[in-house]
Amino acid sequence: EQPGWASTADVVVVGSGIAGLTTALEARKAGRVLLVTKTSLSAGSTAWAQGGIAAALGPEDSPDQHLHDTLVAGVGLCEEDAVRTLVTEGPQRVRELAALGTEFARAHDGTIALTREGGHRRDRIAHAGGDATGKEISRALIQALRAVEEDPGIQVIEHALVTDILTDAAGRACGVALHVIGEGRIDGVGAALGRAVVLATGGFGQVYASTTNPPVSTGDGVAAALRAGAEIVDLEFVQFHPTVLWLGRSATGQQPLISEAVRGEGAHLRDVEGRRFMVGRHELAELAPRDVVAKGVVTAMAETGAEHVWLDARHLGAQFLEDRFPTIVARCRSYGIDPVTDLVPVAPAQHYASGGIRTDLRGRTTVPGLYACGEVSWTGVHGANRLASNSLLEGLVWGHRIAVDLAENLARVAAAEPVDRDGDAVLLAADARPFIQSAMTVGAGVIRSASSLETLQARLAHLGDERRASVPTPRAWETTNLHAVAATLGRHAALRVETRGGHWREDFPERDDGRWRGHLVSALDPDGV
Ligand code: SIN
Repeated sequence: EQPGWASTADVVVVGSGIAGLTTALEARKAGRVLLVTKTSLSAGSTAWAQGGIAAALGPEDSPDQHLHDTLVAGVGLCEEDAVRTLVTEGPQRVRELAALGTEFARAHDGTIALTREGGHRRDRIAHAGGDATGKEISRALIQALRAVEEDPGIQVIEHALVTDILTDAAGRACGVALHVIGEGRIDGVGAALGRAVVLATGGFGQVYASTTNPPVSTGDGVAAALRAGAEIVDLEFVQFHPTVLWLGRSATGQQPLISEAVRGEGAHLRDVEGRRFMVGRHELAELAPRDVVAKGVVTAMAETGAEHVWLDARHLGAQFLEDRFPTIVARCRSYGIDPVTDLVPVAPAQHYASGGIRTDLRGRTTVPGLYACGEVSWTGVHGANRLASNSLLEGLVWGHRIAVDLAENLARVAAAEPVDRDGDAVLLAADARPFIQSAMTVGAGVIRSASSLETLQARLAHLGDERRASVPTPRAWETTNLHAVAATLGRHAALRVETRGGHWREDFPERDDGRWRGHLVSALDPDGV
């Protein structure tokens, strides 16, 4: 379909989590900004973040210690210069976020209160609203955006799905094609044009049957970047959060997260026979890095034949649990489970994509004019397994860096017209989505093998051939994006014949530093070959 209308600015930012909002607010210094988001400004993953944002702010902490913990969690695949950038610039960015109006919890002396999560050897997680950190950060950033929206320098388009990245005759990104969903201000198929495009569209959790991600996380950014010929790195490293409320086998879609901070404050994991199975598996027990705990949970489930383990927070007491974790306690109680008196059933579910669109330290992707920020990107900071609460920090630090790069360089870029691509995309029917989700859960879930991945690839190929959409609806676009992510992830997971971080191959259970201490990169020819 040809765009029926076009909005123009200097910078087009896609996505409204911490990465997109930070970039938009900061990029205002470089020129006029057009912020496009798929549903409403607060619908993405940021607002669901519970635990917090990590930064070396404590008197006994330092960026070097944060660097060390991040590298250990990343199991040999972090890029050290990227991690150093993250941990060095992080504390100042978090202070700025507080100055912007984010009401972080405070210690008695007025400094930002810090807690601990898995893989951190210091208390360094700033948090807000008890367990509603993301909601508070999102509120503060949206309020700041609304304040400057009076200024015609920032325009917002909500309810608009990005379908493709538009490029000029030289192959430089110069905008995005949009499909406005339902009640948008401008109806139909359109375009947002600019001299640079920043993708901050978040993750792809909806590619699995069960995830902590909200419904909007359908991999739109990775899929659009693939179609534009950008390099995608390390997609096989998927983080499964070990403690997601287990609501039965038939519960699908977004599931309630029980923050790692609950374990950080002293809760224990027990198998259904009551044993604390993480003790003896890792020196940090329940606070080992997330991949280690997820594997411990899956192993405990297999050993006992149960479909979940228990999280035991009863010894933390009613007052503490209600004050510190109001969202989690209320959510559990709404399902008839009271963490004050009951063991809480938990099991792993998809949580975070450690891989994504390759960027450099300035947030530039391999397509000129195209940037990526936050979960959609691969900056090199997460390696094979992201350290808890480093993701909000990455969006904040890279959002700022992208804006600095734009302020330094955008003036030299001339506005350009997009060139027409040949033909319309072939889309998958929306009703193919549950088939993709079940194929991914069985084939490339927590545990993978050559045979599970072969079956996955065959099922995806079959869907791609058989389930064509007759009308290009937003839902068909999302399903097509999920399929593209699934196929790329499946290919990566089949190639990496070792076990490392968020990639567990039962047929290759050991880490293989001799052959596999490197990254897997995918790139499609943008002409569709
Ligand atoms: C959590 O609160 O357990 C999630 C934190 C994160 O994913 O970084």
